[in-house]
Amino acid sequence: MRRRRFLALGAAAGVAAVPGVATATASAATRSPRLLADPSAAGASDSLRDLAARIGLRVGTAVIPFDLDTPAYAAVLANQFSVVTPGNEMKWQVVEPAQGQFDWSGADRLVSFAEQHGQRVRGHTLLWHNQLPDWLTTGVANGTISNSQLMDLLEQHIFTEMGRYRGRIWQWDVANEFFTDSNPSGINPNDFWVSHLGPDVIPRAFRWAHQADPGALLFYNDYNIAGEDGSNAKSDAVYQWLQQMLDQGVPVMGVGNQGHLDTQFGFSGERMTQDLQRYAGLGLKVAITEADVRTFVNNATAQVPTDNLAVFAQPYEFGQMMKACLAVPACISFTVWGFGDADSWIPGFFTGEGYATLYDVNLNPKPAFSELQQDLRLAATGAPRRVHT
Ligand code: G3I
Repeated sequence: MRRRRFLALGAAAGVAAVPGVATATASAATRSPRLLADPSAAGASDSLRDLAARIGLRVGTAVIPFDLDTPAYAAVLANQFSVVTPGNEMKWQVVEPAQGQFDWSGADRLVSFAEQHGQRVRGHTLLWHNQLPDWLTTGVANGTISNSQLMDLLEQHIFTEMGRYRGRIWQWDVANEFFTDSNPSGINPNDFWVSHLGPDVIPRAFRWAHQADPGALLFYNDYNIAGEDGSNAKSDAVYQWLQQMLDQGVPVMGVGNQGHLDTQFGFSGERMTQDLQRYAGLGLKVAITEADVRTFVNNATAQVPTDNLAVFAQPYEFGQMMKACLAVPACISFTVWGFGDADSWIPGFFTGEGYATLYDVNLNPKPAFSELQQDLRLAATGAPRRVHT
């Protein structure tokens, strides 16, 4: 409740202060959402989405459906972003809470919002160890679901979910977070899926996904796979695995680097650029899929950084990620994992940290927003156009 009040209170001021959003008032958003997607405005404003569109890049965000009820939030979403990722609503736990009983309400709402506002959708995620339905994990644990049944259920899940949205999802994160954080890295043998079905479950999932929606771009998605681990061990392991997959004709088409950074750790934008370019060299698309930059804050409500330098480091690291994407023409989208600090997953997962997104808890744009805007403004006159074929 407290979190919602912050968002609602600051929302009107936030909208008025966002460049390119001034005409999209809360009431306009409520009355006529389609106004916000007026195609005649495409490329004309200095919104993130319009600036990026000039070089064929899309800028996205993760979204929580109930936030669409806040008009000011919906206005920023519609005006600044051209891709939407359901933060949770396409995960198996959410779409099939009881076996055979489906809940597509959240996912349907987001897909429909995106379509009304000229946005594309990143589907997230089909094969992951986390946020699986209890009936599935319990059944596997007590032996009422055998490994062979588990494989069948996975196939069915992929065809059911991708079939429902066939032709409406731009990129799908087919497989998520399979590699260890160790040095050397490799596919985690203790992963739920790998431990029951072996590592071949990943290429199988990609093949099913390609059958289910042949037009969708199929991504492998993970964190720390562009040098953020310092050693580049995870990137090396993912790169080698991708080579094997492509040699075997597995329809992997893209690599998503999540981009969850923390100002307390070192980070090399140059390394990220090189790693993204290396994936692109395999003929793959690349994307930044879940960007945020966290730091230590006073408390989880106000999220004011405790280190004065963090207000420089946070936008700097956002900018480094954007520049890495801009330098690689195969980088077709840059997605943030939520755009307001009040909605970020960070305070709930990292004790004492926050301030991780582009807008503050009152939905006012922060220096990181201006940083990305400036990067995109400059890129519009110099960065290579994105390669989409
Ligand atoms: O929906 C339930 C609610 O019914 C319950 O009362 C409440 C009690 O805690 O939990 C709610 O579920 C939460 C869910 O988010 C929806 O809000 C879960 O506890 C919480 O664990 C879950 O967190 C999500 C997290 O993935 C799970 O690992 C975050 O929202 C989501 O942003 C985050 O996203 C992941 C990406 O999918 C993959 N990459 C990392 C990224 C950040 O962790």
